[in-house]
Amino acid sequence: MKVGFGCDHTAIELKKILMDHLKEKGYECVDYGAYDPNVKVNYPEPGLKVAEAIMRGEVEKGVLLCGTGIGISLAANKVPGIRAAVCSEPYSAMMTAKHNASQIIAMGARVVGNELAKMILDAFFNTEFEGGRHAERVQKICDIEAKYSRTE
Ligand code: RB5
Repeated sequence: MKVGFGCDHTAIELKKILMDHLKEKGYECVDYGAYDPNVKVNYPEPGLKVAEAIMRGEVEKGVLLCGTGIGISLAANKVPGIRAAVCSEPYSAMMTAKHNASQIIAMGARVVGNELAKMILDAFFNTEFEGGRHAERVQKICDIEAKYSRTE
C-alpha cells in the first residue's frame, strides 16, 4: 500500500520515525513535506497536499502530524471525501479504521511519544473497514458534505 505523509515544522522527526516504521513493514511511503525543522510551515498546507493526493488516487491512505494533530486534521477534513481522525491512543485509531473508514490518521508530535505513535499507526494500518451499518453511517457524513457543497 502507498501511504502519504505530511507534517508541519513541529513533527519532522516523528514523521521520519513513522515513515521508517511503515517502510520496514513493506509500505511505500510518499513524503509531502515539511522537510526542514528550521522553516515554519503552516499546517493546512501539508494537510491539503496529503488529502488531495488521496482524492487523486496517488496514495491510498495518509498520516498527518503537527503539534497536536488537530489543525492538520481539520484542514484535511475540508477536502470533500476525506475523513481524517486525530488519535492519541491505539483503540481510537483501530476504531476509526473499522467504523469510520478514515483514510487519514493524524497525531500530535507534542502529544504522543515515538513508541506510542508507532502503536497508534499499527492499530490504524492493521485494521480493515467493517462496512455494513458503518458504511451507511459514513454515507450520512458524505450526505452532509454534499448538502453544504451545493452552489445553488
Ligand atoms: C504550531 O505551533 C502548532 O500550532 C501546530 O503544530 C498544531 O498544533 C496546530 O494544530
